[in-house]
Amino acid sequence: MKLSNRLNNVKPSMTLAITSRAASMKAEGIDIVSFGAGEPDFDTPPSVVDAAKCALDKGMTRYTPVPGMPVLRAAIADWYTREFGIDTTSDHVIVGVGGKQVIYNALMALVDVGDRVLIPAPYWVSYPAMAYLAGGEPVYVRTTEKTSFLMTPQALEEALEENHPKVLILNSPSNPTGQVYEESLLRDLAEVLRRHPNVMIIWDNIYAHITYGDVKHVDFAKVAPDLAERIITTCGFSKSFAMTGWRLGFAIADPRIIKAMSSIQGHSTSNATSFAQAGAIEALKLDHSYLENNRQRFEKRRGILIDALAKIPDVSLVEPKGAFYALVNVKKYCHTIIDDRIITNDLELAEYLLVDGHVACIPGCAFGAEGYLRLSFAMSEEAIAEGVRRIAVALSKLKRVEGVEPHVFWD
Ligand SMILES: Cc1ncc(COP(=O)(O)O)c(C=O)c1O
Repeated sequence: MKLSNRLNNVKPSMTLAITSRAASMKAEGIDIVSFGAGEPDFDTPPSVVDAAKCALDKGMTRYTPVPGMPVLRAAIADWYTREFGIDTTSDHVIVGVGGKQVIYNALMALVDVGDRVLIPAPYWVSYPAMAYLAGGEPVYVRTTEKTSFLMTPQALEEALEENHPKVLILNSPSNPTGQVYEESLLRDLAEVLRRHPNVMIIWDNIYAHITYGDVKHVDFAKVAPDLAERIITTCGFSKSFAMTGWRLGFAIADPRIIKAMSSIQGHSTSNATSFAQAGAIEALKLDHSYLENNRQRFEKRRGILIDALAKIPDVSLVEPKGAFYALVNVKKYCHTIIDDRIITNDLELAEYLLVDGHVACIPGCAFGAEGYLRLSFAMSEEAIAEGVRRIAVALSKLKRVEGVEPHVFWD
């Protein structure tokens, strides 16, 4: 069988692969603690569930307009204006099947064959795959711990001059680093982008409501309103409203881009599920305290994770300022031996931790972050404590390999 060449550069998502492997070990009766899942463990708010049930009872089971039910688009526009201080109207909004689909549709609407898509690394796993599927070529700006995994204006300028990308993807708060682009850095990045008027910007702010300490999310279009025509903001209900399975996301962009994305969506999924959209309207009516309460729960879990990791020798992390991920530096364990097995990289380390330690972590190589593990802390406090205990025990059994040069990491 000859499948399309399009698939040559697209590997299955490693996060989903590890999560499903951990799930099948669990199904075999093995007790696994999983730091893999990129989803809140909270229930969807009851008012949202009730609204969807009610929509079903009322027979709201037919197609909706492609870009979403008008009432939902209007509700998103209002909510967006309220939450982010950016004047938004319905014709700036498209609703799709998850943040994932709207990012994909945005790339499909912007990228021609061979166009480059600039992605700061470490990156969310799906960006490079989506760039390839849209016919483009992902190119990367490597960021390191020295700049808290944030792209500097100089690095952006160099990458733009070298690659002439059509699109830049910025994600803040970031999956997998947990870092946040704060206002002053965004202003400096905007200054660079003004000198490169052909570059479009996908601004993925799906974790916008999850930031810690004094750090506050600021939207890119708020910082640089003059660039608004070039910014496609992508967001969704999954993370903020514990609605991952509902598959609902949205984009805010110039109406011409929304129309283009709508044309593409019209020939793929048509519209997001009708009764899910009815539920989403209710989510946007929730008091802001709902989001704040979830944020506080994540902040507590983050503290537990950071304190527990600090006790393990030779691991370190740049503390996450947002989202619910910690990118843990395990480079010192990527050159170790146990029995007759040698561990040389984060993938082998993650495999060892899962099979021998019964704890699932996502290897950094999935995110362009070799030598790291990504730990999601969207799980109970007890599970976090137990999971880190297992990591500590498993790592303590590894011995350094003497006489062999360790793998060279890029930072
Ligand atoms: C950075 C980022 N963007 C977008 C998404 C898409 O989420 P969804 O398709 O569930 O809305 C995710 C999900 O993990 C993510 O981590």
